[in-house]
Amino acid sequence: MMMSKLQKKPMFRHAIVRRPGIDCAQGLTTAGLGAPDYHELCKQHDAYVTILDSLGLEIHALEALSGYPDAYFVEDVAIITPKVAVITNPGAPARQGEEDGLEDLLSDFRETVRIRPPGTVEGGDVLMVGNHFFVGLSDRTNEEGARQLGAILESHGHTWRPVPVGAGLHLKSSINYAGGNRLIVTQDFAGREEIAGYEQIILNDGEAYAANTLLVNGTLIMPAGYPRTRARLSELDLDVIEIDVSEVQKMDGGLTCMSLRF
Ligand code: GLY
Repeated sequence: MMMSKLQKKPMFRHAIVRRPGIDCAQGLTTAGLGAPDYHELCKQHDAYVTILDSLGLEIHALEALSGYPDAYFVEDVAIITPKVAVITNPGAPARQGEEDGLEDLLSDFRETVRIRPPGTVEGGDVLMVGNHFFVGLSDRTNEEGARQLGAILESHGHTWRPVPVGAGLHLKSSINYAGGNRLIVTQDFAGREEIAGYEQIILNDGEAYAANTLLVNGTLIMPAGYPRTRARLSELDLDVIEIDVSEVQKMDGGLTCMSLRF
């Protein structure tokens, strides 16, 4: 049996995922990489869910949501901390409504609170690093949404700070948590004052998409095709799994977007 580099206390016990719909190519995208192949996308999504399952997460699988081609990017509709579940109001009008129906499921696990208009938040803009949350200000998450979220986080004993999002759709297009005191960051994001104090793994030229790497229970799940990032992450005290998400990338998505972990 292959042993993990370190025995880790699980951070997460559950994952919510949503199956892609046949209308997946109608979703929002700026990637310019062409339309995703639905069947290939489903295969990649299945492989992703299998990895989460293998890392010990109980999978809560939702059906595709008709009329919402981006709904399998389920991370955007909630922020789940160890203490509270915040149901968002997505900033993209085409995605408003994806959050409906989630409250019943989440209320089995956490107190639930909602972001109210005119506030907008998408979970892709919210990075949890231990008890601290970075909240990206982006085209999808506005200042009022960040203010509401920040107040909810503070009232549950968390700390937070807003961070303007530069390049990329969401904050987590540029920065993710890599365990310990480490962050994986794009070159654009490196050196930002908000992340001073963290060790920064700054991505190599041409490998910025690998910023969307997902830490689950001591394993980093990273997109396939970024060999220099793979080599660097392999030197850490974490296991690394690569997965092909080519069809997901075509829709501006990535590894973090396709699940809610808690
Ligand atoms: N396609 C993901 C998004 O734009 O929300």
